[in-house]
Amino acid sequence: MQLNLVVLPGDGVGPEVTAQAVRVLREVANVYGHSFYFKEHTIGGVAIRETGSPLPAATLEACLRADAVLLGAIGSPEFDQLSSPHRPEAGLLQLRRELGGFANLRPVSSYAALAGTSPLRGEIVDGANILFVRELLGGLYFGEPRGITSNNGTSAAFNTMRYSVSEIERVARVAFEAAMKRRRRVTSVDKANVLETSQLWRQTVSRIASEYPLIELDHLYVDAAAMHIITNPRRFDVILTENLFGDILSDEAAVIAGSLGMLSSATVGGAVDLYEPVHGSAPDIAGKGIANPLGAIASAAMLLRHTAHLDNQAAEIESAIQEVLDAGYRTPDIARETDSKLVSTAEIGQLVADAVAEIADMRHAYHAV
Ligand code: IPM
Ligand code: MG
Repeated sequence: MQLNLVVLPGDGVGPEVTAQAVRVLREVANVYGHSFYFKEHTIGGVAIRETGSPLPAATLEACLRADAVLLGAIGSPEFDQLSSPHRPEAGLLQLRRELGGFANLRPVSSYAALAGTSPLRGEIVDGANILFVRELLGGLYFGEPRGITSNNGTSAAFNTMRYSVSEIERVARVAFEAAMKRRRRVTSVDKANVLETSQLWRQTVSRIASEYPLIELDHLYVDAAAMHIITNPRRFDVILTENLFGDILSDEAAVIAGSLGMLSSATVGGAVDLYEPVHGSAPDIAGKGIANPLGAIASAAMLLRHTAHLDNQAAEIESAIQEVLDAGYRTPDIARETDSKLVSTAEIGQLVADAVAEIADMRHAYHAV
């Protein structure tokens, strides 16, 4: 298998975590004889500093020609005062739009080894396994008109939440298809008691559900969903929701996994798939070698599954992550005082790569007898 991958390390801890994801992908290529080619480009704050633009033309062109894009993180406090179009985040939003992926898949599950790390009690999170399907190209993030007006010395700002039927249909289908391969349950999250966009959302999702008679669909208002996600996470299989609700709820759900650093994502449905950990640039810990790269590494696993259809090898990376956690290795975000095997970003990346090689070896040995 040959894959041309563009790597966008981005800001803050982005370069540290993507380096580990690339290390693990190189190991997979090595043990299975694939040719994975990696090209790095700039995006976000680092791109603004170098070129003045958060998404330089060379970056966008390379991404559009790639088989998939692996991104680290975007955002830097030095640009906090800038208006939306000039901020690092504008580069990411433009990239998402240009690549066209409208469905952002964010799996969240509890790891037995990390049960004591979650602020939630073990009996609540044990066995939780949720897939968020977040609409990624609509809603308040992209709705027009938007802006800030000034009148007689007073300012006002406005954004538009807008969804068309076809935008809702296409992401709903992704959620139902995903649920067919899981526990066949979709919870659609909206605010249909207040918002017109949510009323159209609910109607449309219900209509698409009739194409999937084996799926059990329910609807929750977003405020109630926020509560159920942390009080009874096992009640959920697939959660389908619009852009901003999905952004907020997926960060909240990270407490089920034990840390935001654990979460991965895949953005699919467009010309080129985009893979990024859910966490941000975490400028406070950047450059210290203490960031958790497991979300980035798990995003690389999603890349193998969704873009390369290497399901087994994706699963092997996930098993490798699990093994390293079971063996007690921890970055600070997932460590407790009693944990003694505290390791750096690069060390845990290497441990996962080693575990991948070992799992592959065992598989070979098994097939040889
Ligand atoms: C995410 C992030 C982004 C978003 C930011 C960096 C623009 O929070 O991927 O969840 O809001 O989508
Ligand atoms: Mg977010």
